[in-house]
Amino acid sequence: MTAVLVSAFLVSVPGPALKVKSRVAQATANRRPAPVWEGDVVGAYRRAVQRLRSAGPMSHLLGLCLRLHFQRAGIVVVRGGWPFPSVENHGGRIEVENCAFFSGVRLECWPGALIRIGNGTYLNRNTEIVAATSVTIGRDCKIARDVIIMDTDQHPLPDGTLRAAPVSIGDRAWIGARAIVLKGVTIGHDAIVGAGSTVTKDVPPGAVVAGVPAQILRQH
Ligand SMILES: CC(C)(COP(=O)(O)OP(=O)(O)OC[C@H]1O[C@@H](n2cnc3c(N)ncnc32)[C@H](O)[C@@H]1OP(=O)(O)O)[C@@H](O)C(=O)NCCC(=O)NCCS
Repeated sequence: MTAVLVSAFLVSVPGPALKVKSRVAQATANRRPAPVWEGDVVGAYRRAVQRLRSAGPMSHLLGLCLRLHFQRAGIVVVRGGWPFPSVENHGGRIEVENCAFFSGVRLECWPGALIRIGNGTYLNRNTEIVAATSVTIGRDCKIARDVIIMDTDQHPLPDGTLRAAPVSIGDRAWIGARAIVLKGVTIGHDAIVGAGSTVTKDVPPGAVVAGVPAQILRQH
């Protein structure tokens, strides 16, 4: 318990890369600098307690184990019990910000490939990501259960070619349960992909798409 609290406390202290201050905030801070104990230590303690309350200490503890598999990671939480998310990294790079991974999630990263997942995004149960080149998921995305995202066909076609092309998913996208996102697809910010859809072509920002293959239902 103490280890979890200390870890949550440590990761709650904003690192230099995460500190973004507007000019106004910077000017205010310059006029009256907040005491260290108030601005950093107390704030970090409050954030740590808040995080532990919302996700629970066990989720953080499991998150600490999972983040060992990533080349770069923010605060990672693991939710939903077992099976524990699995990571197969064959020589690529996996970078995640503050993210939640549910049980059964599987990440497969091929040599030289990149998997990047943005701040506030969660991957629900049994979601699978396979990256031969690159799969990037933006911030605050909801990836529902049993979703498959792959940037490669994984097996060569009869003519011997193995096709792969990067997949990119924009911020705040919602990918419905059991959807499949195939190679070369870019899904725009705020787009919604219906449950069970197969996405074979780009989805414009704010579009709601569904079906096999996914078609635009409407545009926000
Ligand atoms: C995509 C979605 C958000 C659209 O919801 P909606 O705006 O209420 O859409 P409607 O129910 O009005 O359906 C509009 C049309 O799209 C079709 N449609 C809706 N969802 C569809 C889907 N997933 N696949 C295929 N067609 C779908 C409907 O049949 C309807 O067709 P019609 O006009 O020919 O009758 C919703 O259907 C969906 O799939 N939600 C995902 C839920 C989920 O996976 N949650 C996981 C928890 S995070």
